[in-house]
Amino acid sequence: MTTTDAAIQIHRGLNGVYFDRTKTSFIDGREGQLLYRGYDIHDLAERSTFEETVYLLLYGELPTRAQLAVLDADLKAAREIPAGIIDVIRAVQDAHPMDVLRTVMSALSAYDPEVADNSTEATIRKGIRLTSQAATIVMTHEALRNGRTPVAPSKTLSHAANFLYMLTGEEPSADTARLMDVDFILHAEHGPNASAFTARVIAGTQANLHAAITGAIGALSGPSHGGAAENVMQMAMEIEDSAKAADYVKVLREQDKPVMGFGHRVYKVEDPRARHLRERVKQLSQEREEPQWYAILEAVVEAMTPYARRGIHVNVDFYAGVIYYLNGFPPDLFVPIFACGRVPGWTVQVVEQLENNVLIRPLTQYVGPMDLQYVPIEQRG
Ligand SMILES: CC(C)(COP(=O)(O)OP(=O)(O)OC[C@H]1O[C@@H](n2cnc3c(N)ncnc32)[C@H](O)[C@@H]1OP(=O)(O)O)[C@@H](O)C(=O)NCCC(=O)NCCS
Repeated sequence: MTTTDAAIQIHRGLNGVYFDRTKTSFIDGREGQLLYRGYDIHDLAERSTFEETVYLLLYGELPTRAQLAVLDADLKAAREIPAGIIDVIRAVQDAHPMDVLRTVMSALSAYDPEVADNSTEATIRKGIRLTSQAATIVMTHEALRNGRTPVAPSKTLSHAANFLYMLTGEEPSADTARLMDVDFILHAEHGPNASAFTARVIAGTQANLHAAITGAIGALSGPSHGGAAENVMQMAMEIEDSAKAADYVKVLREQDKPVMGFGHRVYKVEDPRARHLRERVKQLSQEREEPQWYAILEAVVEAMTPYARRGIHVNVDFYAGVIYYLNGFPPDLFVPIFACGRVPGWTVQVVEQLENNVLIRPLTQYVGPMDLQYVPIEQRG
């Protein structure tokens, strides 16, 4: 094949390209269907817990009570982070929390005894540890940058309840913990999106899980991927009043800017995860006596109705931001929360990649100049 071959088909952004087979998750973007390991996301969001979903993703089937108890104990046992890691957090505490999480995730490789073991069993064990450690990193950083002593992780609370507990030092209500639990379930896995693909590319070189997840966090930090929840909250704050939403959207679109929390590379109907958060935002806004947030979001949805014909609907990030905000999380923690929920998904993508590994190395068609004459620097004008 030559670089001028007219037969070369370019798939920019790898849009619509299948690069492998998977047993992890199924996404039908036209029907709005999402399955983790064959189980409908609606069943999981309504009936499962994050711990059970983690087990399902990592081991491929729903756990028995005994299996779940072992995973739960492993997650709880991994919550503490080494003192050296706390020093690293302190050293970079002024950076954006996603940059901190990425840096510290990388640093954790120095402390994991199995870092170089890429067997399935060790990768799953590391994924379990990193799921817990990521949550502690984010909450330790939040405390340190605000001059507070970090709240030591609970030894008894569920993953979601412990996450909220580390923010305030107070045990959340069962309803609040369940809301966070559902949010983590909805974010746990989503096929080869940009961050999971990054993790697979890194694993494809036989690098270790810490390297793959560090890269994935970098990919997730961009506003086209994980950053949207933060931007949606910013948008809601700028709009201030639901009556102003239509004008706000109009101005954005006149500038050809995307409306955050809308559109998806795969879903051309509503993202199936969004509905589980929509009802909860409504309820939470009322409970916290801040109904304006739900009203603003719904006014934006109304203003975006003409775009639905073109397949642009709300995605999971549209409602997530307000939930985090109403639970006391500052906006720059929204993407790290997403990352904490996604660690199991990245892990299973890496496991799948390693079990049937191939170096991922696509091509670009060269369209630049050729056969240029090298001119020594002293002769260049
Ligand atoms: C997610 C996203 C990056 C997908 O991008 P993509 O698959 O590459 O699709 P494109 O950006 O090429 O968009 C296709 C068309 O839909 C329009 N569109 C996509 N998302 C839009 C949005 N959020 N608001 C308004 N128009 C949008 C684009 O302007 C483009 O229109 P055109 O064909 O007239 O140029 C994109 O929808 C986006 O930027 N959304 C906002 C950020 C966000 O919510 N991200 C979280 C994803 S879970």
